[in-house]
Amino acid sequence: MTIPQPIGWTPGGAIRILDQTLLPDTERYVDLETVDAVAEAIRTLRVRGAPLIGIAAAMGVTLAGRKGRPSVEQVCAASALLGATRPTAVNLRWALGRMERRAEAAARRGEDLAAALRQEADAIWDEDRAMCARIGVAGAELIGGDALVLTHCNAGALATGGIGTALAPVYTLHEAGRRVAVVADETRPLLQGSRLTAWELTRAGVPVTLITDNMAASRLRRGDITCVIVGADRIAANGDVANKIGTYGLALAARAHGVPFYVAAPTSTVDPATPDGARIPIEERPAAEVAGWRGRPAAPAEVRVWNPAFDVTPAALVTAIITDRGVFAPGDVAGST
Ligand code: MRU
Repeated sequence: MTIPQPIGWTPGGAIRILDQTLLPDTERYVDLETVDAVAEAIRTLRVRGAPLIGIAAAMGVTLAGRKGRPSVEQVCAASALLGATRPTAVNLRWALGRMERRAEAAARRGEDLAAALRQEADAIWDEDRAMCARIGVAGAELIGGDALVLTHCNAGALATGGIGTALAPVYTLHEAGRRVAVVADETRPLLQGSRLTAWELTRAGVPVTLITDNMAASRLRRGDITCVIVGADRIAANGDVANKIGTYGLALAARAHGVPFYVAAPTSTVDPATPDGARIPIEERPAAEVAGWRGRPAAPAEVRVWNPAFDVTPAALVTAIITDRGVFAPGDVAGST
């Protein structure tokens, strides 16, 4: 199975990313040498997906004071800059919090700060890879065999340090020789479903059918979808789930047709400090993303646009949450952290 690796180190200690804004037509790797460049890459979705932006930000912190000897102050300034790039995915704050705590501990103990930061960033990446694998096993057991999985956005290898979250059970079943296929929502406005999910599944040899978002309800009514699996950017203490805009509508349609609606996420996405979905900050993105495509207008220039990047699916619509620590009822997931 060919799984893309969206991030890595260069031999010189810079960060190499697969520029996801150029997929599927161009596969270009870009080297990021500064904290500012990493922040820009996260803001513009060159790197994206909740776990991956946490990993990218952690790696980005290692670039603070890279040319000399980094200080804890530089680490905290880098963390503040990176933490302000995208508000919804809690993995970003979670990873940066770990980097700050590691820097402070290293300074207290008189350790080499640069080496400690690199170690912590690698640990965050390694742990994410392992969490994805465990989500894959838990999800595959839950599904139990051949399946047609409907998904939204991209919660695959391109969004994580491993085999993804929502796609992890799919890859695990595929590897085990089960007949598993995916129906991928296109995911307007930035087309993560068609550009990214369809791309990585095709490369991995997993059969995928692309639909536009407004076809999902009709597809669910046909009765051939085994389950819906989506990722998450933040799961509140009560089990409400923030994920890519359109997830809520998909959950409503799944409920209406009696199709299980699963959320797959590592425990780094669970935020016990946020009591419910109403308190999750929802990122609003530029109007141009809705009113045009790659610089070409798709609407009159003067039209008003509303462009929330995420929505909140109430816990009541979620059948179960598949995590690296097992499968939970939404109301119990905060206990997993
Ligand atoms: O705006 P994006 O592309 O970063 O949004 C990504 C999603 O909404 C994913 O579903 C979520 O981050 C989970 S990725 C494992």
